[in-house]
Amino acid sequence: MRKVILDVDTGTDDAVAIMFAALHPSVELIGVTTVNGNVPLANTTDNTLRVLDHIGSSVPVYPGLAHPIARRGFPGQLHFRPDTKHDMHGQALPLPEPRSSAQDTDAVSFIVSTLRAATAPVTLVAVGPLSNIATAVSVDPSIVDAVDELVIMGGAHSYGNVTPSAEFNIWTDPEAAFMVFSAGFAKVTLVTLDATHQALVTRADCEAFAALGTPAGEAASALISRRINAYTANHGAAITDTAPVHDAVCTVYLVRPDIITTRELHVTVETTGRLTVGRTVIDTRPNANGKPNAHVAFTADPGVLVSQLKETFS
Ligand code: RIB
Ligand code: CA
Repeated sequence: MRKVILDVDTGTDDAVAIMFAALHPSVELIGVTTVNGNVPLANTTDNTLRVLDHIGSSVPVYPGLAHPIARRGFPGQLHFRPDTKHDMHGQALPLPEPRSSAQDTDAVSFIVSTLRAATAPVTLVAVGPLSNIATAVSVDPSIVDAVDELVIMGGAHSYGNVTPSAEFNIWTDPEAAFMVFSAGFAKVTLVTLDATHQALVTRADCEAFAALGTPAGEAASALISRRINAYTANHGAAITDTAPVHDAVCTVYLVRPDIITTRELHVTVETTGRLTVGRTVIDTRPNANGKPNAHVAFTADPGVLVSQLKETFS
């Protein structure tokens, strides 16, 4: 069974990713770490506890960094606009208040101590800003040796979602992302917006999740419907009555690697450009000169995503 640590900034798509990782029989989710991102840290932690309690999971939750590693006043919570129809996540997810509590140990200490003590490889899945992962690697660079694969939801090749250049998770903490790509992980899989925007989930899929009649199925239906409403309101004719569920593509990938197709390429992160800060610079040139350091996903299969969610939430 694959041992997994999942690093999240829980909004609606993280929630679906968490439920999948916690419920799939081939994944041993040993801890969930939280980070500033879609909403402030207190809320990403509270939301994560809500999700796990809702599905009856006792996987421990470790709160992490409340801010990017180098920047202050760099807005993280772009999606949190409760006064408008843009509100994709809300401050608190529409699930009952948590009954459980977060651990006293912080996320970075948990990641470092778990990887130092690991006797079998651990997979890291990071679906929020990379602040916790970069800090853990700074504390002990040798921890990368215990990780068989780091799966990241982040970045974009064709266009971003926060700016024309940048995707939210990378843009929120570009220095952290820059460090992670050069940290020496044996395998980095980067699930970009180019891929996640192909695995669109429909309103009919949401009805099918609700019809499962399980806590996970009902929650997935409600949370993805909220995403569909936000995307439909904000993307004109480009995205109507469907939505990407970015982070869930990463956890489904753990058990169905064929959900994405990848190319091995060199990736780095722009940390200085006024207009391009947070861009993942993915070298697709035929004569690229940097050594490949990531398996970059350019496509994702909606059929695999929806069928895996249905099966696992049933
Ligand atoms: O850009 C998409 C990413 O930003 C997802 O991980 C979503 O949860 C937000 O954090
Ligand atoms: Ca996320």
